[in-house]
Amino acid sequence: MSHDDYPTDEPAVVTCGLPYANGDLHIGHLRGYIGADAFTRALRTLGQQSAYVCGSDMHGTPVAVNAEKEGVDPEEFALGWHEQYEETFPRFNVEFDNYGHTHDETNTELTREIVRTLDEEGYIYEKEIQVAYDPEADQYLPDRYVEGTCPYCGEKARGDECDEGCQRHLEPGEVENPTSAITGNPAEYRERPHKFFRVSEFADYLTDFLDQLEGTSNARNQPRQWIEDGLQDWCITRDMDWGIDYPGGDGETGDLVLYVWVDAPIEYVASTKQYAERVGSDEYDWERVWKDEGEIVHVIGRDIIQHHTIFWPAMLEAAGYNAPRAVAATGFITIGGKGLSTSRNRAVWAREYLDEGFHPDLLRYYLTTTGGLQQDVDFTWEAFQEKVNGELVATVGNFWYRSLLFAHRNYEGTPDADVSPEVRDRIEDAIEEFREAVNDYSVREVGGAATRLAQYGNEYIQRNEPWKLVDEEPDEAERVIRDCVQIAKAVGVLIEPIAPGKAQALWEQIGEDGGVRDLTLEDALDAPPRSFDRPEELFEKIDDERVEELERKLAERVEAAGTDEAETGAAADAASADTEDETETEDASADEGGDMSELEPLLEGRISFEDFQDLDIRVGRIEAAEGIDGADDLARLEVDIGFETRQVVAGIKQLHDLDKLPGEKCVLLANMEPAELFGVESDGMVLAAGEQADLLTTREDADVGEKVR
Ligand code: 2FM
Ligand code: ZN
Repeated sequence: MSHDDYPTDEPAVVTCGLPYANGDLHIGHLRGYIGADAFTRALRTLGQQSAYVCGSDMHGTPVAVNAEKEGVDPEEFALGWHEQYEETFPRFNVEFDNYGHTHDETNTELTREIVRTLDEEGYIYEKEIQVAYDPEADQYLPDRYVEGTCPYCGEKARGDECDEGCQRHLEPGEVENPTSAITGNPAEYRERPHKFFRVSEFADYLTDFLDQLEGTSNARNQPRQWIEDGLQDWCITRDMDWGIDYPGGDGETGDLVLYVWVDAPIEYVASTKQYAERVGSDEYDWERVWKDEGEIVHVIGRDIIQHHTIFWPAMLEAAGYNAPRAVAATGFITIGGKGLSTSRNRAVWAREYLDEGFHPDLLRYYLTTTGGLQQDVDFTWEAFQEKVNGELVATVGNFWYRSLLFAHRNYEGTPDADVSPEVRDRIEDAIEEFREAVNDYSVREVGGAATRLAQYGNEYIQRNEPWKLVDEEPDEAERVIRDCVQIAKAVGVLIEPIAPGKAQALWEQIGEDGGVRDLTLEDALDAPPRSFDRPEELFEKIDDERVEELERKLAERVEAAGTDEAETGAAADAASADTEDETETEDASADEGGDMSELEPLLEGRISFEDFQDLDIRVGRIEAAEGIDGADDLARLEVDIGFETRQVVAGIKQLHDLDKLPGEKCVLLANMEPAELFGVESDGMVLAAGEQADLLTTREDADVGEKVR
């Protein structure tokens, strides 16, 4: 079953992964909140009733460990950060309809109610398990209090996640060679009773759920593999004081709190409920969304896919709630190819960006149109400048200013003429591009639809040269400028989700009333007001010296932050582990990075044509594609190369929707030495480029088996 296109008749809710209330926000965090905000605004522009909700994640070891380090009570500590986040998000034009927190009454009660339901329905049981314990500190070591080796990939891991390796969630007792993050001593395992949620019973349900799930492809492909590997039941309690008490408090488990990942996603529901209580259920019906037919869209970091596509939908189903329609998992942001790191000050901080005096919409535009929702982005100030100067200043801003100024000077506003059919058609095309972009969960293309329309506007004004027509053909000049004002207004409507502050300013410049937040696509073709004042330029060029200075400051800081090796050792790791946030990746792969400064340098030296002839590169057609068990990135492909079908292994599992590959043409190096990867023979190599493994192909009619020369 597929979903109806947006806009549907049901209300939608868009959520974004809750930030742990434990430290400063940086651009890695902002990317998700801005992306989800832009997506919600775009849904509204389409006419979809939508709420955007979120809240601070107050519980769990990420907060407890940091509070302890500062010698502060966790509640006070987390509330302090919560208040700071509440104040920071609007400064980036991130406008939640409700921003709550997981420790508030609504969430606490709802969490208890949902857990009770799971229990009553027979989905919870108790089991004795081995829990890490630090004899010196005389305490159990849940989650971030313990470190060791991931049993799946062998990388260094924390108690509940393999954040530097395969990204899997780890259950208590799973991490190998456990050491205490408090003392650095080896931890011992002790037996304790804990509560488990029967996730394993949901394998079939989740398989169907994933078949219908929209959003980014990585959010479907990884979990399919986890289901194939076999689902384990999920331990939902922890030996801690800080958190929501396990409801019931029966006997032995009376001193347990719920695992943070139980009450955190429930805040999505609680926050929606708070919103509905504020505006009234006639205006927004939270139960219709969460318990009936509403459209639930989760935007998350790609390190928490498992929580949102396995645990959470299983919990919702077991408690009688609605299933999410989409999960969009954002890529990571790196600096100089390395993951952002709070503890190492390797980040561009939210506050720092604002202190530099940049308008929030510039960052919004850069982040949404550079990486969309899914791709990794290597941040540089130069790439930021290039986007701002090349697209916002030279294309959008330039078009707005020159057309409105001309209109104001010659007609004191919008000339009295009809919009030409050519321009009406072009605006309608842009509206269609926008509609498709929203239905593809592509905020990048939402921005693209607006920018391309502005580019057309620049070409249109240039081609028609109204300045030459004003005296000689005044009617024609009026028509051209009338077209331009309409295009300017339409660009404002389409760019609002990405750059709401600038769109509002444009709106006021053309004399429109009301807020751009309430605009819909129809407004793009409505006539602008007859008169308006002299416009101002809305975007300002960022000059090279400024960028050099910013790059220099950032490079100095990143260098001072040092390498990971410099900080190894139990004590350093314990100190850093607690302040890293979940969207960070310390070993962001060296092959990431989208801008010119990250391109691999050209090789020295040349090869002869004969050498090139030795490469037997063929046009192929993919016949089958499937993930390889146990390998997170690898897929097995069968490729028809005319003479025969080759089996090849390619590192594309998480980057492509494998179901969609059969039938696609590709290019294959046929005389590559055979190799064996994860027990699967690879007889050839498909060629791909870039961080998303963009598969090379031919453009027209080259037959399967043809040699590339
Ligand atoms: O990974 C994190 O940063 C968590 N605080 C995200 C929670 S999202 C949710 F499910 F609530
Ligand atoms: Zn791992």
